[in-house]
Amino acid sequence: MSASEFWEDRYSTAPAVWSGRVNESLARVAVALAPGRALDLGCGEGADALWLARRGWQVTAVDISVTALERGRAAALKAGLPPERIEWVAADLAAWQPEETFDLVSACFLQSPVPIPRSQILRRAAEVVAPSGSLLVISHAAPPPWAKNPENHDVLGPAEELTALGLDTHQWAVVQAEVRERLTTGPDGQQATVSDTVVRARRHSATPPR
Ligand SMILES: C[S@@+](CC[C@H](N)C(=O)[O-])C[C@H]1O[C@@H](n2cnc3c(N)ncnc32)[C@H](O)[C@@H]1O
Repeated sequence: MSASEFWEDRYSTAPAVWSGRVNESLARVAVALAPGRALDLGCGEGADALWLARRGWQVTAVDISVTALERGRAAALKAGLPPERIEWVAADLAAWQPEETFDLVSACFLQSPVPIPRSQILRRAAEVVAPSGSLLVISHAAPPPWAKNPENHDVLGPAEELTALGLDTHQWAVVQAEVRERLTTGPDGQQATVSDTVVRARRHSATPPR
């Protein structure tokens, strides 16, 4: 099964897959940034894109699932956001590369049971971060307590993420590389603490992308 088939099936067989709430670690980072252009990689049903757009960001939100993007677009319309504030792009990030640069590029839980060239995707995404812009990668640091098969969960620590990104230290400052715990609500309404790996890097002002 391809990534496209897997994710389209995942979204089209459930009325909603995610909570509709912004990823807390993204909100913590973005709230301190001046709004500009943002690129959301693997945006899913668009909660992060909506949150950013509401705060004045011009967002490009990319996902491989058309159903997920339709949900995002509908949620943006319902929220009264101007349609041009978020560009919804249906694309496989393994092949897609934008022409423009972004002040914030985020990849929140860009993790897939069907293999994707994640490191390649993230490295190419880093190329389109504007001078002084931020790259933010958030991933699962541990399986959630409700995981039925925890051994099948794809987990990544800060060191693994930094290796995957392969950032040139002449061009980048790593400003955050840590595991953060947060309280959340599980699929059956249970309260639990989960662990996220959060890596944020800022491109030096003097280094042009690419
Ligand atoms: C675990 S979900 C995370 C969704 C969202 N970022 C969030 O935090 O709720 C991973 C997302 O990546 C998307 N995805 C997986 N592989 C992809 C690819 N090759 N190109 C574009 N999107 C992809 C999936 O469709 C899915 O929406």
